[in-house]
Amino acid sequence: MNIEDLKELYQEAELSLNEVVDLKTLEELKNLYLGRKGKIAEIIKEIPALPEKERPLIGKEANVIKNRIGKIIQEKQVSIQGSQSAKVKIDVTLSGNKFGSGTLHPITLTIQEITRIFKHIGFSLIDGPEIETDYFNFQALNIPQDHPARDGLATFYLSNYKYLLRSQTSPVQVRVMQKVKPPLRVLSPGKVFRPDNLDASHSFMFHQIEGLAVDKKTNFAHLKSSLEYFVKEFFGSDIKMRFRPHYFPFTEPSAEIDISCIICGGEGCSVCGRKGWLEILGAGMVHPNVFIEVGFDSEVFQGYAFGMGVERMAMLKYGIDDIRTFFNNDIRFLEQFS
Ligand code: DAH
Repeated sequence: MNIEDLKELYQEAELSLNEVVDLKTLEELKNLYLGRKGKIAEIIKEIPALPEKERPLIGKEANVIKNRIGKIIQEKQVSIQGSQSAKVKIDVTLSGNKFGSGTLHPITLTIQEITRIFKHIGFSLIDGPEIETDYFNFQALNIPQDHPARDGLATFYLSNYKYLLRSQTSPVQVRVMQKVKPPLRVLSPGKVFRPDNLDASHSFMFHQIEGLAVDKKTNFAHLKSSLEYFVKEFFGSDIKMRFRPHYFPFTEPSAEIDISCIICGGEGCSVCGRKGWLEILGAGMVHPNVFIEVGFDSEVFQGYAFGMGVERMAMLKYGIDDIRTFFNNDIRFLEQFS
């Protein structure tokens, strides 16, 4: 045994390892050279029998060769595994990955459905700003200076009370009447904001849809028939509705509209609080003070207006009992509405 023998052994190992294309053969060669009874182990075993001055040299060289062979084996293993997994990637017989497609949000779907219905009876869509002034959100709507809705606990104020986040979509009524002369029939969906604590039925941001119709000889019967048409289209033709006298500063007379409970059909259950009725919107005839504000002659023109909460409509229609589900972005909830 001398240095030359060792070099030969290394060359032999290198050659045969180069040829290897599978892990099984690689494992066999690893055993052959580096195994406990492998060729290198045999050499190391023979070292004590060598002349003393040759021992360190042969020992050192045997170790160098052992390490080099080990490195070649390691690299070979990585490259064989790599080419095997590359083959799997281009296996055209494997089925493809399924990509889920997005769906419209239930609030968007509800707004679309409500506007579709009102479009049939001549309403067109308009938009209004979410950042408003006191004038449009309150003053021009005949809401008195000391009305509780103006309290900082009921409205989000911005920039030292100069602006606010609208607490209702009603300001759009004033904006449109300032620009468009009657006859007009408009619908305005959008976000509104109120500093309410989040719970199953309250959110600091939600959506409303405002409706306004102004023309000559418009009366309460027009309001009733439009809303009746809407309610039956949206909830179904066997739904009953009733008008309850109410107060809103910007309408006179004003009413709240209830529908027969969709859960119990009017018998009384926990959803309707045993009343058999569910409140769905506020409405009324436009107050003469609002007309004065926008310069319409209330002797000539009359109008009706209404406002509804979109989340509430969606909750009733789809049987959802918690408003927070609309904003949690849980895909399992959202994808049910496609
Ligand atoms: N703005 C009212 C609210 O947020 C809803 C409302 C009631 C709108 C009566 C109207 C209306 O247009 O006539 O509670």
